[in-house]
Amino acid sequence: MLLTDKGVDQLRTALTDYTASGIAERLGPAATAGVSRNDFRAALRATADRDPLATLIRLFVCGQTEPTAAVEAAFAPLPLADALAAGLVVPHGDGLRQGLDLEAYGDSWWVLADLPAAAHPGIPLAPDHVLGVGGASTTLAGATIRRPVGSALDLGVGCGVQALHLTQHATTVTGTDVSERALSFAATTAALNGMDWELLRGDMVAPVAGRRFDLVVSNPPFVVGPGTATHAYRDSGRPSDALAAELAAAAPDLLTEGGTMQYLANWAYVTGEDWGDRVAGWVAGTGLDAWVIQREVADPVSYVDLWISDAGEVRDPARKAEWLDWFDANKIEAVGFGLITLRRSGTDDPVVRIEDLRQQVAGPLGAQVAAWFDRQQFLRVHDAAGLLAQRYRAAEGLQLRQEATMGPEGWAVDRQVLAMPHGLRWSEEIDPLVLALVGGCDGQVPLRDQISVLAVAHEVTESDLAEAAVPIVAHLVERGILLPED
Ligand SMILES: C[S@@+](CC[C@H](N)C(=O)[O-])C[C@H]1O[C@@H](n2cnc3c(N)ncnc32)[C@H](O)[C@@H]1O
Repeated sequence: MLLTDKGVDQLRTALTDYTASGIAERLGPAATAGVSRNDFRAALRATADRDPLATLIRLFVCGQTEPTAAVEAAFAPLPLADALAAGLVVPHGDGLRQGLDLEAYGDSWWVLADLPAAAHPGIPLAPDHVLGVGGASTTLAGATIRRPVGSALDLGVGCGVQALHLTQHATTVTGTDVSERALSFAATTAALNGMDWELLRGDMVAPVAGRRFDLVVSNPPFVVGPGTATHAYRDSGRPSDALAAELAAAAPDLLTEGGTMQYLANWAYVTGEDWGDRVAGWVAGTGLDAWVIQREVADPVSYVDLWISDAGEVRDPARKAEWLDWFDANKIEAVGFGLITLRRSGTDDPVVRIEDLRQQVAGPLGAQVAAWFDRQQFLRVHDAAGLLAQRYRAAEGLQLRQEATMGPEGWAVDRQVLAMPHGLRWSEEIDPLVLALVGGCDGQVPLRDQISVLAVAHEVTESDLAEAAVPIVAHLVERGILLPED
């Protein structure tokens, strides 16, 4: 820990008003909006009196250097000497400025981490840099299924942001990390928030070998590269995307029956290979249900630029060239980013879906992921006869989009697309018969009866139509476009 137990209690007291809502209230809407755009002018005006909360905001939100006496008052009852020893603030000019990132996060949490590269331009991050709450952290937090579980594991716990969320719905929370520094930050974050996590040091799953969890989450160092590890938060030491494959292979032995693992991953687009086949190869043979959603794809130059500047390595052009040469040598044309969710469903016939979901999703994604696995369970226990016996209704607000061309006899429909305005925002091109079927899904009539009526209208046999319709209905159920009424 960065502080003693007593020091943590004192810091918590000092931070009583330094919460997300406390800061927003103190700053008001205009200054808060400015801060979100790194425009601190209004925030500095609103905190000019330098009372303790104002000084904390000036230090940790606005990145200012503040007079020593004001900082001492802001940390009270934590002695200033202890705040300095923990690295919370460092001498700068004739005052003090932040030495660590102390973020008010969520409703009433605090997260401790190292300062991002942007806080000290031109200086690369240290190899054991502990990442604060970033875009990937919040993506995973938003995509996590938030249902009550017994045991949860955060693999690569870092500053502890995922563990904070897990504590809301898991009886026990375990965090592992290869970095001693990360574990000491996680321990401090836990103590500061009055939480109790089991924290273990080691490489990947080694510290929890032989143990199983109901929920495993990981925002691992997924960056695709030659396997040289210069920064623990970013590089796994594994070449290419081997880390993501390793996690998938480890999942069956990590999960309890019914347990779920969710992690962020990058995957290489190798010339001549389909990315989906590559990722499917990782989960094949695990016996787990898998839903892999690709959210972004980057070309090598922008990918390498992103990660080099993330670590503040911009002054090293040789590093970029070396990394790009490695991409070329390994025929990697692009890198995909997404979420892998694996579930131990205890079935001999696991469902594996690898799909592009780059459209904007109406969050939180976690609720959508949970619903997707629920729908898979429905499909698993309903054979064709079972599906035909069900009543369905169309997703709320489902839209029909039509493209048509004016011809000599009026409009000729070229394309009809069902589009979900909410949730995962899927769109599906369909033919008129399926359109009629979906149109009749009002939750009142079993699918079999709908098919009887349609068969007469379209002059096909009921059995032929049922045989054709069942896989289509199953697909529409999987995507949440049709929902079973019961
Ligand atoms: C991207 S950070 C994620 C931190 C935090 N969980 C979050 O969501 O923001 C990745 C974390 O994995 C840790 N890590 C790196 N290599 C590891 C390894 N081989 N085994 C376990 N943890 C590792 C890093 O120290 C770092 O804390």
